[in-house]
Amino acid sequence: MPSMLPGAPWLVAHKSMLPINQPRKISLYGNDYVMWKAVNGDIHALPNACPHMGAMLSEGWCEAGNDGSSRVTCPFHALAFDAKGHTVLPGSAKQTLPQLEPLELIIQGDFVWTYGGYEPKIPIPIALKDIAAKYSFIGHAADITVETDLLSMLLNMHDYNHQNGTHRDLFRINEVQFHKFIDQGHESHAYYDMPTAPYSLAEKLRRPDLFLLPETLKAHLENHFPSLVIFHGRSALGTLAQCHLFVPEAENRTRTYVLMFSQAKHPVFNLVGRTYLNFAQVVVEQDADILGKLYPDSPQTIKLNNEVGMDWVRRNFASFPEVTAPDLGRENDLPKPELSAQRL
Ligand code: FES
Ligand SMILES: [Fe+2]
Repeated sequence: MPSMLPGAPWLVAHKSMLPINQPRKISLYGNDYVMWKAVNGDIHALPNACPHMGAMLSEGWCEAGNDGSSRVTCPFHALAFDAKGHTVLPGSAKQTLPQLEPLELIIQGDFVWTYGGYEPKIPIPIALKDIAAKYSFIGHAADITVETDLLSMLLNMHDYNHQNGTHRDLFRINEVQFHKFIDQGHESHAYYDMPTAPYSLAEKLRRPDLFLLPETLKAHLENHFPSLVIFHGRSALGTLAQCHLFVPEAENRTRTYVLMFSQAKHPVFNLVGRTYLNFAQVVVEQDADILGKLYPDSPQTIKLNNEVGMDWVRRNFASFPEVTAPDLGRENDLPKPELSAQRL
């Protein structure tokens, strides 16, 4: 089974994650790249190993040209490479042929997508573009690399039963009330409510951000296989779109981060944006923690209710890029309480 799904699009950055003229390392499919944003806003990516003696270009710096362009400079002997991989050798006035092959990027507004050099097999989801058009961008959080494979990372994101374990410290969730799962192939939607045990007033006064947690977390997850999950949160003050991104850096290394957008019904909602970013940071760190504490090949002999999201991930993984039997949701529309922990 292809473990990193070549042919899928990956969102490797939001432009706000790239300060102007500051090189940054991006990894995908076992390859490292240096990515940078020029003054004119153009984004570039080249293989990260300098063709002279292999120094990491991402550890170097950028030199700005007069026209808003910029070149990335190697930290070892200071050769500077332009966006196409040309350099000018010392003592020569002429630029060389390209020495590095740029990574092909697809820029949609502030979103930087790539197929990692593979032939596209499925399209870029348009959902993020829609959100960026209707919501305001709050920021990014929890950009972390986890020592785990892509499948394990995605299973965790689509596991609707791990709140009581992995996330118990933050949310104190009493139960998961699963409502429905709509399976549309590579897109799906899951709806569930999570009533929480309330924090005491004393606890809230010690940590005022807890006032922002609703008594019942109402979840609508909009899933776009394999790279994107959007958690839609609604409250009286406004709407939140917490976008979780996934990037297969290597077979056993997967990057994840969150882009947060909001639509305020009340101006205070935008002011508390940072708080939501902090919650997201905690959530992702908790997920990363448990992913590092799993035996990867241990057989599953117990199946819980509401594992339909994980069934959806496994089905799409196995049949990628095709979709077979896209109606997983039907039999799972309602939970079956009498089968709370069923033996396989
Ligand atoms: S290793 Fe990059 S310039 Fe020498
Ligand atoms: Fe989680």
